[in-house]
Order: sequence, then C-alpha cells, then structure tokens
Amino acid sequence: MAASPDHEWRDWLRALPKAELHLHIEGTLEPELMFELARRNGIALPYADVQAVRDAYRFTDLQSFLDVYYAGAGVLVTERDFYELAMAYLRRAQADGVVHAELMFDPQTHTARGVALETVFAGLARALREARGGLGISGYLLLSFLRHLSEDEAFATLEAALPLREAYGDLWIGIGLDSSERGNPPEKFARVYARCAALGFRLVAHAGEEGPPDYVRGALDTLKVARIDHGVRSSEDPALVQELVRRRVPLTVCPLSNLKLGVVRDLRDHNLAKLLRAGAIVTLNSDDPAYFGGYLLDNYIASAEALDLARDELVTLAANSLKASFLPHAEQAPLLDRLWAAAGRS
Ligand code: ADE
Ligand code: ZN
Repeated sequence: MAASPDHEWRDWLRALPKAELHLHIEGTLEPELMFELARRNGIALPYADVQAVRDAYRFTDLQSFLDVYYAGAGVLVTERDFYELAMAYLRRAQADGVVHAELMFDPQTHTARGVALETVFAGLARALREARGGLGISGYLLLSFLRHLSEDEAFATLEAALPLREAYGDLWIGIGLDSSERGNPPEKFARVYARCAALGFRLVAHAGEEGPPDYVRGALDTLKVARIDHGVRSSEDPALVQELVRRRVPLTVCPLSNLKLGVVRDLRDHNLAKLLRAGAIVTLNSDDPAYFGGYLLDNYIASAEALDLARDELVTLAANSLKASFLPHAEQAPLLDRLWAAAGRS
C-alpha cells in the first residue's frame, strides 16, 4: 500500500540524519522509569502513579519546571540507573533519525545527594560507548554547571571531575551552563569558563531563554561560547541577531520546551523560522523531552506544521545540527553525505 502523503513526509523527515545538541539527560527520565528506579532504590515519590506524574507536568515558567525536574532526578543513584537512563534516550533518539547526540548532565544535582561523580560518568559513558557500535549513534558529554549555585561551587565541581578526564576524555569534551537564568548572568561564571577554555573544553551556555539579549552577549563575549543554548530572545535586539549571523554562532533552539515553559504562547509565534530566514544557524533540539511532550522528531514536525517550514528549510535545520556539532570535520562529512542522499540532493 502506498504511504499517505502525511506518512511519506514524516518518514522522509525521520530518515534525515540529525544531531541533537541540546539535551539534558536528566530531562529524558520518563515517569515509568522514574517509578522503576524509585522502587529499586527504595525512594518514596510524591506521586501515586505514572499518570499523577504526567499531571504534575503543567509548568508556568522555567523555575516551575526546574523544581519538578530536580526532584525527579533524585531517583538516579547507581551506575546502572544512569546507564539505563541514557540507553533509553539513545534508543528513542535513534528511532527519530538521530546519528549524533551531545548530552548535557548536571553533576551538582547528583553530588549534592551523595552520588559520586564517578558513578554518573561511568553509567553515561557505558551507554554512549554501547550506542556507538550497537545503535550507530556517536555521542559526547557536556558537563553543565548549575547557574543558581556559586562560581566557587562550579570550580569545585570542575576540579573534582578533572581526574576523570583520563578515563572519559573521549566523551567529555565540553562544558555547559544551565538552571535558573534570570538573576544569574553569564558574567558570574567568567573565571571558571576561562579555566575550562584553557583546559581545551568546548563551551556552550544557556542564554536568552528567559534572560534578556544582554545575557546572550555575555555568553558570547565574556564566556566565549561556541554555541548558544536557546538564544531565542536575541531577536529583541536586531544588532545582536546580525552579530550571531556574522559570527556564525549556532543557536540550539527547543521549540516544544519554549511552548511548555511559556517562552512562547503558541508555536505559530515562535521566531525560529524568522531567525533561520535571517541567516542564523538555527538547530532544533528537545531539551527535556520527557517533561515537554516530545523528542527530536516531534520538535521538527511541530515546528514544520506551525511555521510552514519548507522541505529545504528542514534539510537546512538538519545540516545545521551536524555542522554545529563538536564532531571533527572528518566525522561530519560522511553524515552530511548521508543527509544529502536522504534529502534527494546527492
Ligand atoms: N535544565 C534543564 N532544562 C533547562 C532549561 N530549559 N533551561 C535551563 N536549565 C535547564
Ligand atoms: Zn536546556
């Protein structure tokens, strides 16, 4: 039977090789796994069942989400927990056509509960290494500092993690900055980012999600990041958008996240198409898919439908994701060839 046009379009979109560059691994914890890990680890959850968890996912802003997200992460205790979490995400990502994933993780959320850094690294690394051969997905780790905590605490986390670079340096290639944005400007982390740059880490930071365009400037000019996570409020400052275009700084945009957290009221109001058409290097990502109701393909489909994205623009978004990844050019090239072939351009 011939596929319907709708199915044909979704299958075409799914088959485009894509990279996911803005993904918090703790944000992929589905309620079913949350319950299973809580049971295994003898942790009481404040929810009666899986449906009650889903019902609690009604957010009004970033902080209302973060409170639930940090509480949920409390069920992650053992190496096996982190491995199963990452493996479940990687399998799900593969089904969406993801060929490369750069996973952010929040070590401070775990060390604060007495979980050793080594446990977190070991579980995530085991999944990423298995996925490379077994699922055909490459992956990196971006250790993210919590910006509501102090720069001294970020330094302490970095210094505690550095001895693990010997074992995990093939995967842990970058640094991120997340959590409550307002009131925690990039400049607060200037010294620790300078140290991370000197250590050879690739740098990204959340900016311009809820925070003002000035935070995007701070991330660019003070933290010297290679990519901006979100960055959607940049469009309030046209000169900044021009600067992002001129400097070719990628934005890792997360449309369903922006919708769920009230950054936009309606996906039809999202500025990602305008930014793309203005020449910005826009990429699509899922941020915390278990909490925001959609993985990567859902973000592509919802954006395409709401904003009337043309097939060429969807191919550009996928190409941007591969080119904006931290993969070496020699590894990007064959993925881009696969993309052109899947898009019918070879
Ligand atoms: N941590 C997890 N998701 C986040 C987001 N969207 N913004 C800031 N910090 C986060
Ligand atoms: Zn994020």
